[in-house]
Amino acid sequence: MKVLVTGSSGQLAGDLIPALERGGHTVVGFDSRAFDITDADRVGFEAARLKPGCIINTAAYTKVDLAEKERERAFAVNRDGARNLARAAASIGSPLIHISTDFVFDGRKATPYIEEDPTGPLGVYGASKLAGEDEILKTLPEHFIIRTSWLYGARGNNFVKTILRLAGERDAIRVVYDQAGTPTWTGDLAASIAAMVDAIEAGSFDYGIYHYSSEGVASWYDFADAIVDESRKMGASLRCRTIEPILTSEYPTPARRPAYSVLDKQKIKKTFGIRIPHWRASLIKMLEEADGLVIKARGVQD
Ligand SMILES: NC(=O)c1ccc[n+]([C@@H]2O[C@H](COP(=O)([O-])OP(=O)(O)OC[C@H]3O[C@@H](n4cnc5c(N)ncnc54)[C@H](OP(=O)(O)O)[C@@H]3O)[C@@H](O)[C@H]2O)c1
Repeated sequence: MKVLVTGSSGQLAGDLIPALERGGHTVVGFDSRAFDITDADRVGFEAARLKPGCIINTAAYTKVDLAEKERERAFAVNRDGARNLARAAASIGSPLIHISTDFVFDGRKATPYIEEDPTGPLGVYGASKLAGEDEILKTLPEHFIIRTSWLYGARGNNFVKTILRLAGERDAIRVVYDQAGTPTWTGDLAASIAAMVDAIEAGSFDYGIYHYSSEGVASWYDFADAIVDESRKMGASLRCRTIEPILTSEYPTPARRPAYSVLDKQKIKKTFGIRIPHWRASLIKMLEEADGLVIKARGVQD
């Protein structure tokens, strides 16, 4: 199937495009310069020209803290861009797979969030992503909205790379332990999206909202500890001797984040027959595959 992927230079697309190609799909990927999703005419034009069997929107304004200052830009990309893609998809009869976030929730639940739980974003980023979901729900019945959490991959800046850098530079690092969620490797999410595209091609699927993250629960502290531990086992020579758990109140950020954002994955697993690994197993796999990260960390003290 021909698949149009937006945000092709982003973190998720870095794993998604090869996963789709491995599955035999023809991918037309656009980065933000070639295809600005806020440009409705361009989006409509490219969709009509290419007539993909499926559009996947990985493009987004993802700077959670900066969004508090750049509200208009965040909404332009995350709400209006999603609406433009939904309209373009409707005009050519294509389904849209759109990526959303656990930050649409307020984090006051203590058990995993299901798709029907009430939303309540705490910051501008989450609000803009929720507005994007709403635009798609209004515009295009043929949608798959995948809410995911704590993404990291070989490409892009993310928590894994930040922790490896800090652990290489400092004797001690401080990481919040009162926010719980689930780290998700883009390699796993990409494989699951590719399985969804296969299902679309085979004509067996249910449109709607789906939750996807790795299995398990972690705090940012747990995640940091695992990154350092697993990297050391792979030979990284890191300076850091202490990882200190701290409260969110000790590390204030411009945007508030949900204290709990674990996602319930029953629906996506049952509908698409997807098996989801535990977050720590996926972290190990990512570090092994992106060996360069650990080699770089090894080099810090060599
Ligand atoms: N990262 C996370 O922890 C996380 C967690 C939950 C959900 N998500 C969601 O998962 C999806 C993928 O995230 P990611 O981590 O891969 O994000 P990312 O690395 O920031 O990639 C997003 C891409 O979107 C592009 N983009 C920005 N504005 C655009 C525009 N107006 N038109 C076209 N492209 C534009 C960016 O290009 P430029 O760099 O050139 O601007 C970038 O390549 C997003 O929908 C995000 O909201 C992410």
